[in-house]
Amino acid sequence: MTVKLGLNIDHVATLRNARGGTEPKLEDAARAALGMGAESIVIHLRHDRRHIKDADVEKLCKLFPGRIHLECAATAEMERIALKYKPASVCLVPEFEGERTTRGGLNLNASNTARIKKITNNLRKANIAVSLFINPAAADARAAKNIGADIVELCTAKYSEAKNKKESAALLEDLAVCSILARELGLEVHAGHGLDYSNAAAVANLDGMECLNIGFAIIAKSVFIGLAGALLEMTDAVK
Ligand code: PXP
Repeated sequence: MTVKLGLNIDHVATLRNARGGTEPKLEDAARAALGMGAESIVIHLRHDRRHIKDADVEKLCKLFPGRIHLECAATAEMERIALKYKPASVCLVPEFEGERTTRGGLNLNASNTARIKKITNNLRKANIAVSLFINPAAADARAAKNIGADIVELCTAKYSEAKNKKESAALLEDLAVCSILARELGLEVHAGHGLDYSNAAAVANLDGMECLNIGFAIIAKSVFIGLAGALLEMTDAVK
């Protein structure tokens, strides 16, 4: 099975916001990516609205029903927004003030779990599939199952930042074991964060892996060869 690709377009918004105008348009990026075979368009609505804005969520969900994957923190505000605009799926992620990007998976301790479970239930009742961004650990996959998630997205940040082949192989092994377990638990398995043209294929080939969510590396390459070319190169890399 060829792994599916979710294109994160947050940094198309970063570029647009640099001049405060409307170009480049997110809907143009989404249309191009879906036309090139991307499975979904991923957007992260952050608390500080540094790239994606509420109006973007509204517009993209309207224009591309069933194809928008919204990443957001597990807060009442984000739950309200998701229920209002109805993306196909929501990925609940941890969010910390001052971070440049998401640093790791959710902390699924008892107090967080109750809050995440409530939001998960409410979103699922509205026919929004729920993904939990987790570290590749057995306990977290089991916790995600108990919470009632449909999907787990395994955090590849550490794997992507591995300093040498040995470290990379060990971190890939964690992802491999967790992917198999999550699939056996009946969860759909995704992965993402920090993946690029050199390290995505190994994750795509893991047993149980169904979808990779990739943003920065593809958008960065598109500056030189265009979005269609950058997407094609990634699709080829993970085939
Ligand atoms: N998956 C999740 C949960 C993320 O938070 C991000 C970054 O927004 C990505 C995937 C994409 O990461 P990158 O831009 O490094 O490919």
